[in-house]
Amino acid sequence: MARVKIDLDRRLGVVDRKMYGMFIEHLGRCIYGGIYDPDSRLSDVNGIRTDVLEAARGLRPPILRWPGGNFVSGYHWEDGVGPKENRPVRAELAWNAIESNRFGTNEFIRYCRALNTEPYICANLGTGTMDEAAAWVMYCNRDDGTSYAALRAEHGFTKPHKVIYWGLGNEIYGDWQIGHKTAVDYAKLARQCAQVMRGADRDIKLVLCGGQELDWDREVLSKCADLVDHISYHFYWGATKGQDPHYSNLAKPYASEQYLKFLRALIEQVRRDRGVTRPIKIAVDEWNVWDLATAADGLAEHYDLTDALAVAIYLNMMRRNCEAIEIGTLAQMVNVIAPILTRPDGMCLQTIYFPLKLAVEKSGAVALDTFVDCDGYQAGYAGVPQVPYLDVLTTLDESAKKLFISAVNLHKTETQNVAIGVRDADLKPTGIAHLVGGDAPDATNDFGKEVVRTQSQPLSGVGREFTYTLPPLAHAVLEVELL
Ligand code: AHR
Repeated sequence: MARVKIDLDRRLGVVDRKMYGMFIEHLGRCIYGGIYDPDSRLSDVNGIRTDVLEAARGLRPPILRWPGGNFVSGYHWEDGVGPKENRPVRAELAWNAIESNRFGTNEFIRYCRALNTEPYICANLGTGTMDEAAAWVMYCNRDDGTSYAALRAEHGFTKPHKVIYWGLGNEIYGDWQIGHKTAVDYAKLARQCAQVMRGADRDIKLVLCGGQELDWDREVLSKCADLVDHISYHFYWGATKGQDPHYSNLAKPYASEQYLKFLRALIEQVRRDRGVTRPIKIAVDEWNVWDLATAADGLAEHYDLTDALAVAIYLNMMRRNCEAIEIGTLAQMVNVIAPILTRPDGMCLQTIYFPLKLAVEKSGAVALDTFVDCDGYQAGYAGVPQVPYLDVLTTLDESAKKLFISAVNLHKTETQNVAIGVRDADLKPTGIAHLVGGDAPDATNDFGKEVVRTQSQPLSGVGREFTYTLPPLAHAVLEVELL
């Protein structure tokens, strides 16, 4: 029998709601034909697909990153503002597409307001300049009649957009990136941009581009730590070729967790060495399961139950590391490696939609250090020797006096009988179990076919010590009340 122990005094920290954010990029059918489709009968007068907006609202993202991604490294924001008939149609070189510029900064802000989410704009540090980055901040945020504020007003937006979160470029370390740079060159440009962007608006928060690689991260942090609030980390994982697709996929959250711990230590080391007092948090501003080997056209991932369990474990993992991580934006929200898929006549909620929705709806702000004792398997992945069959993270909602025990049974065939003990707290005898599961690891949803979804059932026999039986291939969030 597996054992879980929860102690309300052993707090890992506060989970920032921005952990549950989303990312949209001018890529494939994410924006055009996804969230924005003026020709669709399902769209409103602004061209926003209302069915997609409703589904996105179900995920309640507190922050939305835009416009890229690789796209941003060749994007000039002035192409996307002002009267639509005057906007240039450009050859888009990051993804070899045509960019109509019909959806630009003001359309993005309008979308954020409709979704009740905080805008997060990533600036172009590929082909872009300091001037361009600072001007974008001024266009969005100034309210003083200076030229860019006046231009925004001329475009119909008299009130400033007040965009607080700004990224200093995207994946500039990679040679797939337009205008990619060495860490030394990037750090120099990022520092210069940070200075003028902050000059444009003192209140903004800046995300430095991390490299998923400690040498890059050390160099850029050492040069920019005094000017930034976050450093980014991206992860995309899937199954390992030649290994069991289910178990190798589910081992990957632990590999990311290992890097996040290294990065956290590096941040603290740089802050100490440089005498930086401002906190610097990690922005996991692109993450998801992405099985490049199996995705049909590279971008259109058809997610299965294993992927949903992986997403549930990633969410547990990020909340376990909530002291270091402040922002998480899932890549991406619609059509491109996404929980929501569209067709001209409707939508499909993929398997991963359900753990994402559960995490945001059924969780508290305080992450508790949850002790888990269970069997595991060999990950076959460097630095991750053993993967537990049971992944558990508990959050506490202090005002509602509720605990949310988020558990994943990774085992393909075996049930987990979990003995749960809660220290120094009495619980109401009844609660609710919210369950996402299915019969086979490769179970998928499709248009008109929702096989994997959340089912909520009453939970009885809850107390200081109780047992919960978690079926194989299942993710459960146990919602229980403190007395
Ligand atoms: O999300 C898809 C792509 O993955 C993004 O454009 C890029 O930043 C990453 O490599």
